[in-house]
Amino acid sequence: MTAHPFWTEENVRTTLPKREASGHKGTYGTGLLLAGSRDMPGAALLSGLGAMRSGIGKLEIGTDEEVIPYIVPVLPEVTYLRNGLQKTAESSVDLAKYKAVAAGPGIEPNEETEKATHQLMKSESPLILDAGALTERMYDERQEPVILTPHPGEFSKITGVDLKELQQNRSHHASIWSEKLGVTIVLKGNETIIAFPDGEAWTNPTGNSALAKGGTGDTLTGMMLGMLCCHKEWRHAVLNAVYLHGVCADKWSEQRSAHTMLAHELTELLPVVWKGFE
Ligand code: APR
Ligand code: MG
Repeated sequence: MTAHPFWTEENVRTTLPKREASGHKGTYGTGLLLAGSRDMPGAALLSGLGAMRSGIGKLEIGTDEEVIPYIVPVLPEVTYLRNGLQKTAESSVDLAKYKAVAAGPGIEPNEETEKATHQLMKSESPLILDAGALTERMYDERQEPVILTPHPGEFSKITGVDLKELQQNRSHHASIWSEKLGVTIVLKGNETIIAFPDGEAWTNPTGNSALAKGGTGDTLTGMMLGMLCCHKEWRHAVLNAVYLHGVCADKWSEQRSAHTMLAHELTELLPVVWKGFE
């Protein structure tokens, strides 16, 4: 398979949404983020920052009760679905009110997560599955998109494709598995591949090895959730989130060593980076 084309600067400029003069938080909608747990509270914070910086109207974080006090001082704008994973698994959440949902950062891939994911699949909004919410499974057909964001190790785990083989033929495997599972696959790493289930596929040209550090994937998941809330066309949201996430790292590396970037610094760079494309 030939390499997929690059999603370009021009593509980003023409597809980024405007913030409408008459827009209000309801225009952009409420996103639900199921993230963070006792041993990985930071993942909720990193993905929450990504979402809140990416055009969302309101953000609700579903996380363990004990994680909440860590988030409040940094992100006072967020509201909570206390023990959200458990409540989602028990089907006691009204999922209809969310414009988009993301699940997985800082969550264990256990039975409760699997049950919650099963419930989320029944909802009628775009759904991002990352990290702990990624397991080997089939996906029921649904109206709204399902977007998986695996790094190569996670992709290999959920598909059984050998890691070395995967890395040699990334475009090919992302595309065939996207079509096979009927979901969008964002295969992360240097030159992230974005493959849609109808065969459309792109290569992301931005980003660098400053991103090779724990937490940057969580930030991307949050950014994608926010972008889904403010874009009209969900495909553009996925592509632009990956692109701008990479540009933030490129911006960092212009004047600072790639060894030194922290994931939460991506979202500090995003406001100026995004402005550069408007
Ligand atoms: N060049 C460009 N981009 C890169 C590079 C690189 N060399 N290395 C990493 N990236 C980008 C990826 O494309 C992705 O967007 O950095 C991000 C890394 O995401 P993850 O691998 O998901 O990392 P993260 O989730 O933040 O790590 C925390 O969570 O996924 C689990 O178990 C995993 O320990 C990990 C933890
Ligand atoms: Mg990750």
